[in-house]
Amino acid sequence: MAAHFSSGNRREVVMGLKILCCLFAFLVPLCNGGRVSTSFQNLEVQKHLKRLNKPPLKSIKSPDGDVIDCVHISHQPAFEHPLLGNHTVQMRPNYHPEGLFDESKVSTPSESSGGTSPITQLWHVNGRCPEGTIPIRRTSSKDLLRASSIQNYGKKNHKTFPQPKSADPDLINQGGHQHAIAYVEGDKYYGAKATINVWEPRIQQSNEFSLSQIWILGGTFAEDLNSIEAGWQVSPDLYGDNNTRLFTYWTSDSYQATGCYNLLCSGFIQINNEIAMGASIYPLSGYHKSQYDISILVWKDPKEGNWWMQFGNNQVLGYWPAFLFSYLTDSASMIEWGGEVVNSESDGQHTTTQMGSGHFPEEGFGKSSYFRNIQIVDGSNNLRAPKDVNTFTEQSNCYDVQLGKNGDWGNFFYFGGPGRNPNCP
Ligand SMILES: *[C@@H]1O[C@H](CO)[C@@H](O)[C@H](O)[C@H]1NC(C)=O
Ligand SMILES: *[C@@H]1O[C@H](CO)[C@@H](O)[C@H](O)[C@H]1NC(C)=O
Repeated sequence: MAAHFSSGNRREVVMGLKILCCLFAFLVPLCNGGRVSTSFQNLEVQKHLKRLNKPPLKSIKSPDGDVIDCVHISHQPAFEHPLLGNHTVQMRPNYHPEGLFDESKVSTPSESSGGTSPITQLWHVNGRCPEGTIPIRRTSSKDLLRASSIQNYGKKNHKTFPQPKSADPDLINQGGHQHAIAYVEGDKYYGAKATINVWEPRIQQSNEFSLSQIWILGGTFAEDLNSIEAGWQVSPDLYGDNNTRLFTYWTSDSYQATGCYNLLCSGFIQINNEIAMGASIYPLSGYHKSQYDISILVWKDPKEGNWWMQFGNNQVLGYWPAFLFSYLTDSASMIEWGGEVVNSESDGQHTTTQMGSGHFPEEGFGKSSYFRNIQIVDGSNNLRAPKDVNTFTEQSNCYDVQLGKNGDWGNFFYFGGPGRNPNCP
């Protein structure tokens, strides 16, 4: 009997609490903005998901748990941008840069018998998106709830300073970002290309990431940096797993108000129905095993001024309209290629998060990660070998970079490392 009473009482207490909670759901956000109740948060999540996830014509479940929505090309997130209301989608670029390296001809690395193979995206094993649609990785409520705030999902934290610049050493390494990169500056650049070795670096904890990418940069790092970024990344906070994913990023104000990853805000206009931004890449390279790489080309259409992106040898993904940018409306003043990780030093030591393959450049092909055929696009829309390539790394004992040059690979470099090790405590 006693047990019955007590459980009955508890039920009443719970009912009372629920009523109170319902009242507080409306009151708390008003009088105390810091503490938002669960139901209010749910409402926000649903609202945000509705904005991000457009009604699909078809959906494909990827083996990694992702859902890829095939969304009509004219319903993609870009068209929520106030300046894109009347935009006519360009279905192809007016110009394509002329190359030094014909990728269809050359691609067997001379350094080893390992060889490289073409690469695709994991979700393709379960279907394709029809013509006239674009594949978009569906955002889940779990994705949003991992973010520091729902509004911040898909954006870089602007309090950290993610880009290195050799000329500004005092700006280096804020927020624990570590790089091992090659770069060129001091000229006008109209694009960049690279073939990037693909690995799955280990991430020590979920608020860290590891990426390999190209940066197309204009403006100053402190406040008005224009940046277009593309490559692969492992980012547990962004995607909820440790998979290696294709990604892009853009900003026109140093990661403050503008820009985002992939299609998580309006900006990038996608025309391609085969490649999904933010989706897992497959297969991946293994230590002393088969090596895989992806080619990425970003270039400025000299006629319309839009910045286009190509994946592989022939997948034109789409473009960033010129008006999104200030400096990049003209040209880029710096190009960077290489790796970046977050070193959160959570336990007072350097992170064990890996960059590249997690192995230093000295180990070479099949062991250390590479960028090969790094090129820039010049003012005549030609792909060229970059002149005066520099390298940069905050702590070469943790992550390093080593340049090279040969006939097959053009300008290349090995980069990365294990993070914490006896020389990087
Ligand atoms: C789009 O077109 C309409 C009608 O021609 C016009 O009123 C509006 O200003 C245009 N919007 C933009 C952003 O150009
Ligand atoms: C990602 O990897 C880390 C360590 O490498 C592991 O602790 C974590 O559970 C993994 N996360 C997921 C979602 O698999």
